[in-house]
Amino acid sequence: MLPNSQDRPESVLRIQGKATLNGHVSISGAKNSTLAIMAATLLCSGTSHIRNVPGIVDVQKMIEILKAVGVKVTSDRGALDIDAKHISQSHVPYDLVNQMRASFFVIGPLLARLGVARVPLPGGCAIGTRPVDLHVKGLQALGADVIIDQGIVQAYARKSRLQGAKIYLDYPSVGATETLMMAATLAEGETVIENCAQEPEVSDLANFCRSMGAKIRGAGSKTITIEGVPHLYSSDFSIIPDRIEAATFMVAAAITRSTITMSPVIPDHLTAAIAKLEEIGAKVVLESSSRIRVEGAPKYRHTHIETLPYPGFPTDMQAQFMALLTLSEGNSTVKETVFENRLQHVAELCRMGANIKLQGNIAVVTGVSALCGAPVMATDLRASAALVLAGLAAEGETHMQGLHHLDRGYDQIEAKLRGLGATLERQPVGSE
Ligand code: UD1
Repeated sequence: MLPNSQDRPESVLRIQGKATLNGHVSISGAKNSTLAIMAATLLCSGTSHIRNVPGIVDVQKMIEILKAVGVKVTSDRGALDIDAKHISQSHVPYDLVNQMRASFFVIGPLLARLGVARVPLPGGCAIGTRPVDLHVKGLQALGADVIIDQGIVQAYARKSRLQGAKIYLDYPSVGATETLMMAATLAEGETVIENCAQEPEVSDLANFCRSMGAKIRGAGSKTITIEGVPHLYSSDFSIIPDRIEAATFMVAAAITRSTITMSPVIPDHLTAAIAKLEEIGAKVVLESSSRIRVEGAPKYRHTHIETLPYPGFPTDMQAQFMALLTLSEGNSTVKETVFENRLQHVAELCRMGANIKLQGNIAVVTGVSALCGAPVMATDLRASAALVLAGLAAEGETHMQGLHHLDRGYDQIEAKLRGLGATLERQPVGSE
């Protein structure tokens, strides 16, 4: 069942500290692949069957967006059937887009399919301003007139089809690469996108588009070439495992000094996280091509982390690793270069006894011998995961609010942690 966080009373997650975890955890399908692939189903004038879909609120929101433009969506036990034969609307309502930035990614497929798309600017969010200038410039290069009026990005194809083009991205933005790759699948002629994002989710999206008949080469490298085709067709596709969820459980093993196995994973997608865990002293064992074991250690060394586009260290793992480094010996540094305001968990970790000093976009983390449970507030999705991890390791009980962030991107995280032996439960605020 996909969760729906709306209408729920505000809850608090009570996490018992000093947890010892043990056992195996199943990794769900990748959130970021799923959201882009759901947008891409708009390119197909048939039905897409998508499997291994995570049960998270962001997926529910993307379903609402697809329905808002007239698409039929049915979900059943981790699979979605998306029938985009008829799209009745080129306009996406503001109240859906402002809840989730990834909803802006429908602009490329809508424009390619209908010749017109009107999507509100996603606006700011907790981790930074996150503009869409690279999406807009690329769509213009593909032959669209784009006007931004009263906060709505309105794109109109100048000809009946978008036109293939050479596009250089000033920055390897994941979303812009995906928007432009999707738009170019139905364009007339060849599109070459240079300085692309190389994230595995971009490759997964390309594989899905290829399963519908798109001609795409080079996804996963810095240059993607798309030969436009007039139509895309029904397909059946399974989403890759979520590397960020897997890496979060890897840190869960390390921070609680426990042993956890997890599958399915694609170890190549976890290279940066594995390297950092091994560098500080955790043991990581590849049990098979899709199964990994992490063994925590009694003590960890310090390290230096800088977030970068893939294959660099993922910004989506920065907060979780920072939680771990609060309990590692010596002075570690964590530099956030991808988003300008993604260090709000620092203050919350300090409430739990961490010693972290902020110098601009660099957090200097001096290891402490223990964290202590405290009331904390999740400020964004990955910050919420970091606080859960810190709470599992801390002495005493942690009460975390802001659970809508956690629900956006982690499929049944409490049940999965309970299955590993953690004690945590959700209660209405005020009842604890
Ligand atoms: C995606 C992921 C998110 C991840 C991020 C970076 C999804 C749904 N979300 O977000 O989990 O943290 O990649 O790995 O896939 N930028 C611009 N102009 C643009 C686009 C982006 O300046 O037109 C900037 C952003 O403000 C940010 C940086 O580029 O500072 C990276 O953003 P981007 O790679 O686009 O991230 P998203 O696609 O939003």
